[in-house]
Amino acid sequence: MSAHDLSARTVLVAGGTGNVGEGIVRALLTSGARVVVPSARPGRLAELRELLGAERAARLELVDHPYESFDDAAALADRLADHGLTDAVAAIGGWHQGEHVWELTEETWRRDFLSTVTTHVALARAFVRALPADGSYTFITGTASVEAVATAGPVSMAGAAQLMLRQVVSAEAAGSPRAVSLVLGPIVSRSRPQGKKEWLTADQAGEAVAHVVATPGLRDETIAAPTVDALEGLLGATA
Ligand SMILES: NC(=O)c1ccc[n+]([C@@H]2O[C@H](COP(=O)([O-])OP(=O)(O)OC[C@H]3O[C@@H](n4cnc5c(N)ncnc54)[C@H](OP(=O)(O)O)[C@@H]3O)[C@@H](O)[C@H]2O)c1
Repeated sequence: MSAHDLSARTVLVAGGTGNVGEGIVRALLTSGARVVVPSARPGRLAELRELLGAERAARLELVDHPYESFDDAAALADRLADHGLTDAVAAIGGWHQGEHVWELTEETWRRDFLSTVTTHVALARAFVRALPADGSYTFITGTASVEAVATAGPVSMAGAAQLMLRQVVSAEAAGSPRAVSLVLGPIVSRSRPQGKKEWLTADQAGEAVAHVVATPGLRDETIAAPTVDALEGLLGATA
């Protein structure tokens, strides 16, 4: 059972193959949305289908297509032009920690900052204008984007850039579609099945996303949902 009826929505979830993405895809499907997940890694798409089960996968479309560069994301948008996408979620970029700024290698910087931020911009560039005026674009990030974490500099800086990208999209698209950043705390997921009781699960992160997609009043803002209490506050305040 879901609190929302998203049966009229078709949602692109970039990063749907990931730890948090899985919960987002499950929650959207449970709410009745059609969900489109792209990836250039067919094995990850097959794994996602397996994790979700056959019944849910009926409304899921897996698209074997890259989107990390401007050209690839634009080609993906062309390929999906007749899919009737109404909303998009970007849940990309993982976690890496281990080097102080003075120890950073260029390889780490390129992977954890440049690659992540370039992919976010490529997706926003390709999909913001492809969504209808009543659509939504949700950026997923973590608390490291608002509070520096020692030895995770590139991830923190990429998150901060992503928050500003959302503000830029809001300023330029002026609500058509609305753009929202969702700032999550540590997530209990398939790769980290244990955590503190206040941590959200990937499925709860998905509930937060389904709520954003379903709630037109949530527009052009950064929403913090780092814990179970914060999520309950969000769901209660804007039901
Ligand atoms: N895990 C947590 O505890 C946690 C907590 C708070 C916030 N978050 C946020 O949730 C989002 C997803 O995190 P996650 O833990 O689910 O990460 P993840 O498991 O590594 O999944 C991220 C997915 O992003 C896609 N991706 C595409 N381009 C990428 C690029 N240039 N760099 C990295 N990934 C790329 C990959 O999917 P394909 O290549 O298959 O398309 C990958 O499966 C991030 O924004 C993260 O900050 C996570």
